[in-house]
Amino acid sequence: MLAFIGGTGLTRIDGLVIHQRHALETRFGAPSAPVVEGELNGAPVLFLARHGDPHTRLPHQVNYRANLLALKEAGASAIVAVNAVGGITAATGSLVIPDQIIDYTWGRHSTFFDGADDPLVHVDFSWPFDRALRDRLRIAVEAAKAPWQDGGCYAATQGPRLETAAEIQRLEQDGNSIVGMTGMPEAVLARELGLPYAMLSLVVNPAAGKADREITMAEIEQVLHDGMAGVRRALAALAAN
Ligand code: HPA
Repeated sequence: MLAFIGGTGLTRIDGLVIHQRHALETRFGAPSAPVVEGELNGAPVLFLARHGDPHTRLPHQVNYRANLLALKEAGASAIVAVNAVGGITAATGSLVIPDQIIDYTWGRHSTFFDGADDPLVHVDFSWPFDRALRDRLRIAVEAAKAPWQDGGCYAATQGPRLETAAEIQRLEQDGNSIVGMTGMPEAVLARELGLPYAMLSLVVNPAAGKADREITMAEIEQVLHDGMAGVRRALAALAAN
């Protein structure tokens, strides 16, 4: 069953017919919210609000392990994660399906295998996003008729503050095209569970120093509001194909 993780601006999916809410408790604790099981465009799907519903957990406070494990336990076979990002080279208002990621976060639980009795596992993460799922996502985004960009590197920063202009310059030199706070460890935890994972990122602001002004929440919210309409169309198309 396809599962969606919704980020800022997507705590619910319009058009999702809800059948059941699973209030799960995993061995790593409770996920951010109950896992919603339902139907989107006639297809069975799962949905989880990454930051809780209502939105209360900051990116560094999200229990990513519980979120991923809860989705797996609820029957997820693949995950499409939606997130709001800043644009380093990508245009504001566009959707990006990244193909790479660099982890700049710290102090987060980024593996399922750190218990004393756990096996020593080093998962391959050369290509962090599932190719087949990205192919499906690409078709869905085309169908949604939203402006989009195929590929790009996602910089996962710690937050919750936004970056300095110098940090963004460094991230750009590193080859990143978008920046967000939730991509890691979410992506690698999905890999450790063997769940195909892909991301759909909505660029909600020019990253720090990329526009000649400060970044305001009002500006972000406006773009989020408009852009999530395209995201919803894409998810509906994805569920159906
Ligand atoms: N930086 C990091 N995360 C973000 C941004 C940003 O500019 N915008 C939305 N999420």
